[in-house]
Amino acid sequence: MKIARFSRIGFILAAAGSAVGLGNIWKFPYVTGEYGGGAFVLIYLITVILIGFSIMIAEMLIGYLGRRDGVTSFEELAPRNKNLWKLGGFQGLAGLFIMIFYSVVIGWIFHYVVTSLTHLPATVAEAEATFNTMLNSDVWTQLFYHTIAFIWITYVLTKGIKGGIEKLNMILMPTLMIILLGMFAYAVSLDTFSQAVSFMFTPDWSKIDSDAFVVAVGHAFFTLSLGMGAIMTYSASMEKGSNLVTNAFWVVFLDTTIAIIAGLMLFTFLYQYGAGPAKGPGLVFISLPAAFYEMGIIGNIFAVLFFIALAFAGLTSSVSLVEPMVQYFIDRFNFTRLKAAISMGLFFYLIGIIALLSNIDGYKEALTWGDKNFFDWVDYITAAIMLPLGGLVMAIFVGFVIEKSRVEAAVKPHLGFAFEIWYFSLRYITPIAMFIVMLSLMGVL
Ligand code: PFF
Repeated sequence: MKIARFSRIGFILAAAGSAVGLGNIWKFPYVTGEYGGGAFVLIYLITVILIGFSIMIAEMLIGYLGRRDGVTSFEELAPRNKNLWKLGGFQGLAGLFIMIFYSVVIGWIFHYVVTSLTHLPATVAEAEATFNTMLNSDVWTQLFYHTIAFIWITYVLTKGIKGGIEKLNMILMPTLMIILLGMFAYAVSLDTFSQAVSFMFTPDWSKIDSDAFVVAVGHAFFTLSLGMGAIMTYSASMEKGSNLVTNAFWVVFLDTTIAIIAGLMLFTFLYQYGAGPAKGPGLVFISLPAAFYEMGIIGNIFAVLFFIALAFAGLTSSVSLVEPMVQYFIDRFNFTRLKAAISMGLFFYLIGIIALLSNIDGYKEALTWGDKNFFDWVDYITAAIMLPLGGLVMAIFVGFVIEKSRVEAAVKPHLGFAFEIWYFSLRYITPIAMFIVMLSLMGVL
């Protein structure tokens, strides 16, 4: 099977494009707000450096050595029990499941790009009412934009690694960075910037409980796109002889920097013009538009640019969420790329409609089980179970199953003396940490 290869910069941008997503700009600021700022950020940063970075190298390694779709890579790299280990490759399914709600959220963002141009809500109360009306009663608007997201994402996937994914990332990622940096520069000039800095970097340990800890670790995984085969699948198309360690470094660095920049910028705006930090998932859809309103005309421009950046972040992550299964069907079932992309696209699109309906009054009751509706269940099952499980499997696979000599050959030249530390952390620290996170998220601990 001939696979088109990413260029070096193309790979870094695509993997960073996968990592930098709604998780960075939508989720990170609001969870930081909910858990009181500095201490949460610190735990998240430590996790990213100690666990995230080492799993990033491990996941890249599986793809890079395996050179195929996730399932085949696991199968080929396992010296024994191939049929068991190939199950590891099915973590690619998690990406497809995430897309069920991710695409709906991208739809909301598209809608906000369009409406922010002409109208911003004057108060938080108005913003909240507007958002809730869309969420709970406007099926058609949501369906329309969810459809656009589906068509865009599927189209890019039909074009393949080079002409689709690499090209998308080469355009969208730099644009996103320019928009965010521009808005960040403006935020730095406001007097509330220092307040945002102290909120994000002064740890208040009283706000930290085991829950905050687990959320920080889970978020580090989600934001780095780990445990779902996305990075692994991209790495199958990395150039031969690539330096996995510097590649992993760049992805982690860009992802973390962009999350921090986005957080500082949003909190500055919220302090200056709005209602302060802790506003939950509605933060960018509710508090932020009301803050943009206070800025006057520049607020409209900022709002549109901000939602464009957010949409770009979401789209570049989306293609990486679907690509593992697309690659799987191409490699294992001889699907053409067109057929694989369209069938995977239709899968998340159609089930996405159920997720969308599960927020709508009138359907909500039928689509709610226990304390969560379908939308929230998908989010929960992927984040709480599939993702940490994927990370755990990968750490064990690289730490114990693949022959050490092969791991050494690919990684040691770039890590030097730190190789043994990395290997140890992969074998012992990471699996234990992942296990604890999983149990706590599932409510066992
Ligand atoms: N990292 C993305 C974000 O922060 O929004 C989400 C994501 C993309 C998770 C791809 C996992 C993945 F494989």
